[in-house]
Amino acid sequence: MARPFSQEHQRVRPSSKEDAVVIRAQEHFERTLVRVKGELVGSVAALDHPGRSGEANYGEVFLRDNVPVMIYLLLQGRYEVVRNFLSVSLELQSNDIKTRGVFPTSFVEQDGVVLADYGQRSIGRITSVDASLWWPILCWLYVKRSRDMEFGASQQVQRGVQLLLDLVLHPTFEGTPVLFVPDCAFMIDRPMDVWGNPLEVEVLLYGCLRSCCHLMELAQRDRMSRLLHQRIELTQEWMHDLRSFLLKHYWVTSKTVQVLRRRPTEQYGDHQHENEFNVQPQVIPPWLQDWLENRGGYLIGNMRTGRPDFRFYSLGNSLACLFGVITAPQQRALFRLVLHNRDHLMAQMPMRICHPPMEGDEWMNKTGSDPKNWPWSYHNGGHWPSLLWYLAGAVLLHEQRHPEADVLLMGQMRAMMEECYWAQLNQLPRQQWAEYFDGPTGTWVGQQARTYQTWTIVGFLLLHHMLRVNPSQVSLIDIETH
Ligand code: GLC
Repeated sequence: MARPFSQEHQRVRPSSKEDAVVIRAQEHFERTLVRVKGELVGSVAALDHPGRSGEANYGEVFLRDNVPVMIYLLLQGRYEVVRNFLSVSLELQSNDIKTRGVFPTSFVEQDGVVLADYGQRSIGRITSVDASLWWPILCWLYVKRSRDMEFGASQQVQRGVQLLLDLVLHPTFEGTPVLFVPDCAFMIDRPMDVWGNPLEVEVLLYGCLRSCCHLMELAQRDRMSRLLHQRIELTQEWMHDLRSFLLKHYWVTSKTVQVLRRRPTEQYGDHQHENEFNVQPQVIPPWLQDWLENRGGYLIGNMRTGRPDFRFYSLGNSLACLFGVITAPQQRALFRLVLHNRDHLMAQMPMRICHPPMEGDEWMNKTGSDPKNWPWSYHNGGHWPSLLWYLAGAVLLHEQRHPEADVLLMGQMRAMMEECYWAQLNQLPRQQWAEYFDGPTGTWVGQQARTYQTWTIVGFLLLHHMLRVNPSQVSLIDIETH
């Protein structure tokens, strides 16, 4: 693929205003926190939002937007706020017969009543699967950090976990370990042809099952139960199958693509396993050749019969490192890929959410002509500063787990993160902490971007914390350790 923006990043320079920017960001962050029933519970999605006049919901507490918020609060030792957030969300877990176990996308207190949105009020009336999968992960991170084992083993939490597991671990027509979801079921919550088994949802499912196991083990320690023991074993088995499925069908490198291109098609029967999804070689896009280079690798966006999605999704891939879905050598292959494609993925505002964008007829048909997801905008190739800290976390956690491995590569990754940090530090305050950025280099403030977007602000603060204050504390987001 053409590399039209090379060397752009070298213009970024350190700024002497670092301390002042961080202090201002901390002040903005404090203003995002809101109360429910008198207690602090989390952050609104954005400080400046037209929702003030009624029509949008950026004034609500979104579960997904609060992931970095909760991690930041855990780092600061503000455990009560995290516990309140977890408790309020848990009380709102659906009991309705058709959505039993689902956690809300967002909630808000209005006239003393807590209103939850499970998707039925949102634009497009979409589902939000990721919020439900994030809840146990956040709960486990809270328990692990605060040592509040009592909360983890409590009846409410254990009941919530069981309800959620009933929702995700059930027989399906496909009989696969992946979760089948409609379009718009996660951070990308507008039509983008991400229905089926999108990477972010599947990786979150893995993290969710892992965290549910940890939480169930807490209860098992208190009161041995045969049923619970079986449930833990079943969940572990499902997790194992899910990981094998993702590694087999989603992981690509230059080598595996060459195998994929020469596979037989139209295979019938259970003894032929080379091309279970009957993928025709023509669907492998030519841009993959330069994108993967010699030693790069990544998890593709989706696998569906005949129609894999080869787009690169930053969040799904970063989470796959953090949760240990991909192995250490695979993580380094992913880092090489990011370095090789940094002019696309980072450019002027790290980092792009999804690459490449859909254009022309493809955009028209697959997004339903969505003007917000115009090529190079919003979810369709836009740049979201809130995503960078997840990748930085993956890099630092990798260094912590494997300090001796490929020091040259890891040094390059560190240097890149450092430059990306300065890029954000220089631009975000000037651009009022915008939600997203548009265009092939991510220079323009998103056409419909909110300003003072919480996860932009707190994502930067997390990045600052991990790069400047205490890199070793990245272990807080490691779901594996106790
Ligand atoms: C938009 C984003 C979604 C986010 C929400 C609140 O709908 O697409 O991911 O959670 O805004 O910030």
